[in-house]
Amino acid sequence: MPTILITGGSGFIGVHFCREAENLGWSMIVLSRNVEAAKKVLPNSIDVIATLEQIPSDRRVDTVINLAGEPLANNRWTESRKQRFCASRRDLTNALFDFFSQRQSPPDALISGSAIGYYGPGTDAVDESDGGKDGFSHRLCDEWESSALQFEKLGTRVCLVRTGIVLGEKGALAKMLTPFKLGLGGPIGDGKQFMSWIHINDMVELLKYCVLTSNLTGPVNATAPYPVTNREFTQTLGAVLHRPAVLTMPAFMVKLLFGEMGVELLLQGQRVLPTKVLTQGFEFRFPQLKSALRDLTNKS
Ligand SMILES: NC(=O)c1ccc[n+]([C@@H]2O[C@H](COP(=O)([O-])OP(=O)(O)OC[C@H]3O[C@@H](n4cnc5c(N)ncnc54)[C@H](OP(=O)(O)O)[C@@H]3O)[C@@H](O)[C@H]2O)c1
Repeated sequence: MPTILITGGSGFIGVHFCREAENLGWSMIVLSRNVEAAKKVLPNSIDVIATLEQIPSDRRVDTVINLAGEPLANNRWTESRKQRFCASRRDLTNALFDFFSQRQSPPDALISGSAIGYYGPGTDAVDESDGGKDGFSHRLCDEWESSALQFEKLGTRVCLVRTGIVLGEKGALAKMLTPFKLGLGGPIGDGKQFMSWIHINDMVELLKYCVLTSNLTGPVNATAPYPVTNREFTQTLGAVLHRPAVLTMPAFMVKLLFGEMGVELLLQGQRVLPTKVLTQGFEFRFPQLKSALRDLTNKS
């Protein structure tokens, strides 16, 4: 059974992953800035540590999963917040590299976070073979990925998991549910921007797949095979909840309320395809949005 060190293990995706890893009997170590808070949300069997030095020198770490980072969608982006988004991811990834450079045996694999923001805005379909367009999200992901790729010098296999909008009890869907349930939901801007989403269960399965597939390397898109436009997303969510979804939030209001964050995360989108894992035979349990939303909102 592999031993896995995970950063960001106390977060939305990390907790789901840790629960699944516990079911599988994997040995898990979570690195957290707040050990007590992390223990409260994680299964008891998981070791939670505050510093890398707490890992005994004779305990081999087979895989590192690196998800930690300051959340992007909570506030308007100021210059100092943007620096924190970058520094929190880059500095921790560099610290992991420094730590494992000095250990006798480096990990077999680093599964490191990134996001579909890497690709920049657009409505043409993109996959792992495409480059990225400039913008803050692209620069953030590029810097995070470059830090992670240092592990290749240690002979470690590196996967860069370019994650889409993860749908679950937290994150984007949770923020949308209240207005939609009140009948106040609807498209954002012209609604033509794409939303490349993934069900939280498929996200966990895909991370597991990255851990277990020893020939998988480089960028890996973590998005369902059928991305939709924002208009289609809101119509589907409205239909699943049996609520109207016609109240448009105009682009100018998004810019006024959320500034650059609103432009990059709400008004612009990416149409991302998970070509690499599909080619390798990975099967999504929720490839289509409607069944994903039905499952998550418990509607049949
Ligand atoms: N959820 C999505 O839809 C989505 C989409 C694309 C990309 N991602 C990326 O995937 C990663 C995991 O997502 P998530 O939704 O699970 O995130 P999350 O719930 O916000 O959790 C992130 C974790 O990172 C740690 N963290 C937060 N601020 C930090 C800081 N300033 N410095 C160091 N560590 C910090 C926290 O762990 P401790 O408090 O225990 O240290 C937190 O539990 C994130 O990096 C996120 O940007 C997520």
